[in-house]
Amino acid sequence: QAIKDEILQFTAATEEELEQFRRRFIGRTNIIAALFAEMKNLPAEERKGYGQQINELKDAATEKFQALISALEANGQQQHEAHPDLTLPPRPDALGGIHPITATRQQIIRIFERIGFNVSEGPEIEDDWHNFSALNFPENHPAREMQDTFFIERKPDIALRTHTSSVQVRVMESQKPPIRTLSPGRVYRNEAISARAHCVFHQVEGLFIDKGVSFADLKQTLYYFAKEMFGADTRVRFRPSFFPFTEPSAEMDISCLICGGEGCNVCKHSGWVEILGSGMVDPAVLQNCGIDPQVYNGFAFGMGIERITMLKYGIRDLRLFTENDVRFLRQFRSLI
Ligand code: PHE
Repeated sequence: QAIKDEILQFTAATEEELEQFRRRFIGRTNIIAALFAEMKNLPAEERKGYGQQINELKDAATEKFQALISALEANGQQQHEAHPDLTLPPRPDALGGIHPITATRQQIIRIFERIGFNVSEGPEIEDDWHNFSALNFPENHPAREMQDTFFIERKPDIALRTHTSSVQVRVMESQKPPIRTLSPGRVYRNEAISARAHCVFHQVEGLFIDKGVSFADLKQTLYYFAKEMFGADTRVRFRPSFFPFTEPSAEMDISCLICGGEGCNVCKHSGWVEILGSGMVDPAVLQNCGIDPQVYNGFAFGMGIERITMLKYGIRDLRLFTENDVRFLRQFRSLI
């Protein structure tokens, strides 16, 4: 019985103690074997009971030995979790990356934040006033037609916004100048999907309203943007254009990034690529939004994020942005 108690009460906190147990109760010269050897000295009638006891001891010892091994292993596991091996190489990481459109949007925001622009947002489902009327679109302007704009069923007054210029109206209606704001967001146009166009895409709108803003301010701001975005060597040119909500209006081209202005098939051999529309905010628009055009003026600009991203990374097909092909997306994993 003393030996049985000893077996049952044994604990092993280390490999060494486990080995002690093994040597005493399991190994070739263990004490149970020694007791067994004494059996031949007993009277025949006692041998049966004695043998049974010895067998019980043997079973108890084996069982305990297994239990001690398991306990020691579990303990080792816990120790390992508490003290991970920091010298092991890292596991390959399966994290996703930032989408190139998101990365470009962030970069545009960061560039304009440095010169005092904040970020404003507006709804994607917009009313006629904010998307068209306040921006001076005449009643019969083609953008108001079904073939260009997605209208919300049974509500001719409500549409998916066709540009982020709707947000400048909302900002001017709700804030007092000076205003310096950037409005990134998704816009919708009823267009056939191709390598160059999609019915859902992204724009960034910029709006600057203060006293005595000049066209030179507009040019310098956008020139600064082009150099920050595409590199210090980038050249820009402005071409006269027309938008109902700006007067005068201009489109800005940058020197082609691929050929550096020599001419290639990206810039259709002109050396220039268009990146944005801009202009001085029309006094009628300021008036519509409750800002006195006698006191304040300013400029606005709008650009497509897809287009900027395509130029920056040499992407030839805009559909790649929405196909979610990981072979494409993985190439942008290093962007932050
Ligand atoms: N909203 C115009 C477009 O969608 C771009 C633009 C914005 C032009 C602001 C001038 C001023 O094309």
